[in-house]
Amino acid sequence: NDMKITYLGHAALAIEIGDTHIIVDPFISPNELAKDININELKADYILITHAHQDHIVDVEAIAKNTGAKIVSNFEIVTHYGNLGLEGHPMNHGGSWQFDFGRLTYTNAIHTSSFPDGSYGGQPGGFILETSEGNLYIAGDTALTMDMKLIPMQCKIDLAVLPIGDNFTMGIESAVIAADFIECKNIIGYHYDTFGYIIIDHDDAQAAFSKAGKDLTLLPIGDSLTL
Ligand code: NI
Ligand code: MN
Repeated sequence: NDMKITYLGHAALAIEIGDTHIIVDPFISPNELAKDININELKADYILITHAHQDHIVDVEAIAKNTGAKIVSNFEIVTHYGNLGLEGHPMNHGGSWQFDFGRLTYTNAIHTSSFPDGSYGGQPGGFILETSEGNLYIAGDTALTMDMKLIPMQCKIDLAVLPIGDNFTMGIESAVIAADFIECKNIIGYHYDTFGYIIIDHDDAQAAFSKAGKDLTLLPIGDSLTL
């Protein structure tokens, strides 16, 4: 048994833990870079949503309807999808719940979270998955924040997914500091290259992390890393 993390482009991930399939922040069908990913072929028992921005939720309804997956997010986002007839599990910052794949915590993030129509999408967050296969932190869209220092006080992170695209989130320099704050050496970068504001130089990013003694993985879309 292990944990397999597949990059679906932008901030979208597919995570397999044993028999459980989790999709995170699906923004796939409008993403030209992810055109080889077919959302109708994705398996999902759960869909985790960090916040309500369009570039994190566009394919939620389609995948939830295809798969019957349960939506896990903040209270406001789960209520929004509940009103559309989709099943969910509401959480809020600092809260944890034991799911069949492990213990999930909704963490703090510094960002905003309106739905595409401007309606309130609660407050943005990230997730920690504590599983028998290892512990994964998915930061969501966020600035570097001192709150990240609280994470290793409660949970040893084996692998972290951090935004590195700058402009809307942390950039590379902040993400290197974030990796220090969470005391994690193994980082997957996400939320970069999708559109003009967040195009990064991959070599610069790799160099900044390796100079700090950390390992940055930039997965090609569709590729996986196993923990
Ligand atoms: Ni966002
Ligand atoms: Mn975003």
